[in-house]
Amino acid sequence: MPRLQDKIVMVTGAASGLGAAFSRAAAEAGAAVVLADIDAHAGQALCEALAAAGADTLFLHLDVARETAWQEAMAEVERRHGRLDVLVNNAGIALRGSIADCSLADWQRTLDVNLTGVFLGCRAALPLMREGGGSIINVSSIYGLVGGDQVAAYCAAKGGVTLLTRSAALHGAKCSPPVRVNSIHPGFVETPMVLRSIGALDAGAAAAARARIEGITPLGRLATPDDIVGAFLLLASDEARYITGAQFTVDGGLTAQ
Ligand code: NAI
Repeated sequence: MPRLQDKIVMVTGAASGLGAAFSRAAAEAGAAVVLADIDAHAGQALCEALAAAGADTLFLHLDVARETAWQEAMAEVERRHGRLDVLVNNAGIALRGSIADCSLADWQRTLDVNLTGVFLGCRAALPLMREGGGSIINVSSIYGLVGGDQVAAYCAAKGGVTLLTRSAALHGAKCSPPVRVNSIHPGFVETPMVLRSIGALDAGAAAAARARIEGITPLGRLATPDDIVGAFLLLASDEARYITGAQFTVDGGLTAQ
């Protein structure tokens, strides 16, 4: 039987990068997939492509930083499916800036999307997991475990996600049936987010940035989105029934050093 057969899986930030890979993998694994994103054009296109391949899909326009948007999205999921089994809080933004030069606006926007968005998502999902239990997967980062000097706000938000996940896991463990809550911590993944930041550099600097990442990564390359999918599939499936409050680092060995 496919690993996620009959599960209702919702992915935020589903229109691009990791979220698109998780959505595709969930559909291939037999789940009904709810794709949520602020990018309606790309999100709807992926939703239709997965439906054309036979999956049960729904696209929802959702800004994860807005509380009312979550209420509306969850009401729609409840109307359509009556419950939610898996929520992947994946939507995120990366605004560069060190502690010395990060603007207050960038700091607040980063916390709004990357941390408050995860808080709102976890809180909104719990009522829909009351009857059947569930799995919440929060996409943090290696920068939720270690510091990066040029991404102060991003580190603060992703570090917040790491411990919010543990707190939520302790709550979820008391639910009956339990709601498991875990975080995934990717290293550098070739998605539009990373390619944008490398691409913003001139050709020489971009090549140097890529070579630097490859050089510091023990497995010697950037990840592809599909390299992160295995952790998602495990945590979403019933094989992970005893895993909660855990941090899954998927970084090619970067933070093992
Ligand atoms: P991406 O930029 O390719 O995709 C992010 C998606 O989130 C986009 O579709 C975007 O429209 C959506 N989004 C942005 N703000 C949103 C909002 N307020 N509400 C709803 N959707 C919103 O980025 P990528 O790389 O796929 O990132 C996905 C997650 O993985 C993020 O949380 C990111 O921080 C995390 N991550 C990425 C790494 C990487 O190297 N690419 C490494 C570690 C973590």
